[in-house]
Amino acid sequence: MAAIDRFEFLFQEVVKVFGDIRDVFAYVGAIYTSRKLLHILRRICGCLNVHFVSRLSDKCDLAQKFGEWAVITGASEGIGLAYARELAKRNLNIILISRRLEKLQAAATAIEEEFHVKTQCVAVDFSVGKDTYNVIWDKIKDKEIGVLVNNVGVMYDFPQLFLDVPEERLWQIVNINVAAATMMTHMILPQMVERGKGAIVIVSSGACTQITPMMTVYAGTKSFLDYFAQGLRYEYKNKGITIQSLRPFYVNTKMTRYSKTLTSHSFLVPSAENFASHAVATLGHSGRTTGYWPHTLQMWLFESIPEWLWMWGAYRLNQALQRQALERLDLRKPRVKSADSMDNFEELLQTKP
Ligand SMILES: NC(=O)c1ccc[n+]([C@@H]2O[C@H](COP(=O)([O-])OP(=O)(O)OC[C@H]3O[C@@H](n4cnc5c(N)ncnc54)[C@H](OP(=O)(O)O)[C@@H]3O)[C@@H](O)[C@H]2O)c1
Repeated sequence: MAAIDRFEFLFQEVVKVFGDIRDVFAYVGAIYTSRKLLHILRRICGCLNVHFVSRLSDKCDLAQKFGEWAVITGASEGIGLAYARELAKRNLNIILISRRLEKLQAAATAIEEEFHVKTQCVAVDFSVGKDTYNVIWDKIKDKEIGVLVNNVGVMYDFPQLFLDVPEERLWQIVNINVAAATMMTHMILPQMVERGKGAIVIVSSGACTQITPMMTVYAGTKSFLDYFAQGLRYEYKNKGITIQSLRPFYVNTKMTRYSKTLTSHSFLVPSAENFASHAVATLGHSGRTTGYWPHTLQMWLFESIPEWLWMWGAYRLNQALQRQALERLDLRKPRVKSADSMDNFEELLQTKP
């Protein structure tokens, strides 16, 4: 009898404790769910502000806000040229930098005629290294630079395994993607700090959302740029300088021409012009953005994927894109693994081997 009493007592105690634990779990669950909901709500409001509300005050005079001139690297075509046009629309004089002078001059003339601003062209090759920056400095040192767009960047000809990428291209990726943004910022930031105003856009990429196999070196350099931008923003937050890390996903430009799928405009693969018109509006509204709201939705999805799943998916996708590229080039023979440059890729697309 005494044993039964003890058992009943014990049973009641256990039920009481579990009842209490259930309450504790319920509280924890409620706190976790509310935090998650708040987080999602904050993200949605942030997204609406960055991508939609920003467009209401978008046509402001950036020359007055930041300074008279904008410098854009990699400005002869693609995202750089589209950025140059959007900034000219907002009253900035434009300095266009890339390798091909003729192409730059044609773009500059079109910008001058359409937007009635001044332009200057600087033809340099960023893959050369230190000397390039002396040439640029000589041409721009007497100008008030309000906006710097560190856009120039190169990728592999198409997604590849590390050892299949030509050594020359690896040097270009490091020298252009990492050094150009670092040294251009080092050259131009001092005058911005002195004036207490200015904006620097650093074009990173959605490829650095997580580790991306078959674009490993490219994505690595883009991660550097993203870190660089965020660190700089913190260092100079009290100096009146706006610094933005721009992380687009696929945009239909020469860089994506290796793939048939990426060479037609779509909701997720906008034209450079469409992308830039959205992205420029976010300047001053977000320090770190994709620049284009469908890409932001993509980013949210990709950030929530576990790393192993992302890597598996990215590897599969890049294998498929590589197959497309090789089919386009009709170069399935292993001895030809890469064109020398995207320009050669373009040429190869026109000719049969
Ligand atoms: N397209 C995308 O899907 C995508 C996605 C995410 C991020 N991004 C980034 O966005 C930026 C622009 O990409 P994009 O697609 O517009 O590229 P793009 O169409 O290939 O244009 C590249 C620009 O850079 C210039 N350039 C290339 N090599 C150069 C060098 N060695 N020295 C000086 N200028 C050079 C090119 O002009 P010249 O040939 O006349 O020199 C051209 O104006 C890059 O940083 C890229 O990583 C692109």
